[in-house]
Amino acid sequence: MKILITGGAGFIGSHVVRRFVTTYPNYQIVNLDKLTYAGNLENLLDIENKANYKFVKGDIVDADFIQNLFDTEHFDAVIHLAAESHVDRSISNPIEFVMTNVVGTVNLLNAAKTTWKGDYDNKRFYHVSTDEVYGTLGEGTEMFTEETSYDPHSPYSASKASSDHFVRAYHDTYGMDCVISNCSNNYGSFHFPEKLIPLSIHNIKQNKAIPIYGKGENIRDWLWVVDHARAIDVIFHKAKTGSTYNIGGHNEWTNIDLIRTLCKVMDRKLGRPKGESEKLITYVTDRAGHDLRYAIDATKLKEDLGWEPSLQFEEGLEKTVDWYLKNEEWLNNVTSGNYQHYYKEQYQNR
Ligand code: NAD
Ligand code: DAU
Repeated sequence: MKILITGGAGFIGSHVVRRFVTTYPNYQIVNLDKLTYAGNLENLLDIENKANYKFVKGDIVDADFIQNLFDTEHFDAVIHLAAESHVDRSISNPIEFVMTNVVGTVNLLNAAKTTWKGDYDNKRFYHVSTDEVYGTLGEGTEMFTEETSYDPHSPYSASKASSDHFVRAYHDTYGMDCVISNCSNNYGSFHFPEKLIPLSIHNIKQNKAIPIYGKGENIRDWLWVVDHARAIDVIFHKAKTGSTYNIGGHNEWTNIDLIRTLCKVMDRKLGRPKGESEKLITYVTDRAGHDLRYAIDATKLKEDLGWEPSLQFEEGLEKTVDWYLKNEEWLNNVTSGNYQHYYKEQYQNR
């Protein structure tokens, strides 16, 4: 089987590529990534020379390029993660999100449709989406299920919702074998330090302010990225065509409680006096349209396919902090912009 994984140089994509390349040596994995600011081939150093792995630099918004790639590579399946993924950036530049997340997804669907010519036996288009398409929950105990109506609020979540609708339209209209999963907030290694957890780890290390939007009362449901990659593996192999699965860790935290916990871990790991890092917490202007609460009900995934998170959050957070402290060079390369030279040095002349 030859699988196209898009966005494989990003945070979650790199974990998915690693999982598929190492777990399935008989699969050919092609990682297609534009290498935007969020794409970093240093995320894949440990597997880049594996025989069943290939990297292709390219833009999913370029329809001709995508069709050419499908014509040359004859993919059996697509696992689509490439996206603009940061809500704050979507507020300042929504068009980029429409282009990559909506147009890019439709280009991939079209190329798959043209290539597979209506024969979807042993073919699959797997679209990786987010819980943000469901909008926001109140402070109660309600959770997002697969039946929850879409109600996106940010340009990011609106673009992801739109891409989900296109994927379902290709299934319903053309009979394409499509599956979608909607996951909650991920954390772990290789997370770009513009997002809450890696940004806070970086700032605490540097003794810089930790910006908390509004009052820090917004709630997110955190899942270890390796568990997300495991879920994608299970759904890719076992889900029925046309199905949707929610993925989440039953692990809700207000932002402020999460950051206070992180500060305690950082004080311990850095040998600082207790309470030292918490002093860096700084309340800043709230995000526009900031969704109050996300919480995923992942019962369907557990009951149908037997998936459950493997790690408790406290353990995952320790592991994540350890990874960032140990991989200082990765973090420095990202924050200095050095990682963007890696492609030229390692790949361009191959
Ligand atoms: P990321 O921003 O870390 O990575 C995105 C990757 O896509 C980067 O490598 C980037 O170079 C690539 N890319 C962007 N535009 C491209 C284009 N036009 N053509 C080709 N490649 C392009 O994102 P992430 O956090 O790893 O998220 C991956 C996917 O998972 C996204 O679809 C996102 O919506 C979804 N998701 C993320 C989370 C989360 O917590 N991060 C949770 C649920 C779902
Ligand atoms: O829920 C899944 C989504 O999780 C994914 O679809 C997105 O791609 C991913 O970026 C993430 O979105 P969030 O907006 O929830 O993640 P972020 O890390 O940006 O913010 C987490 C929470 O922390 C959110 O309530 C905003 C807040 N925040 C964020 C930053 C960057 C702060 O208070 N301060 C900050 O500096």
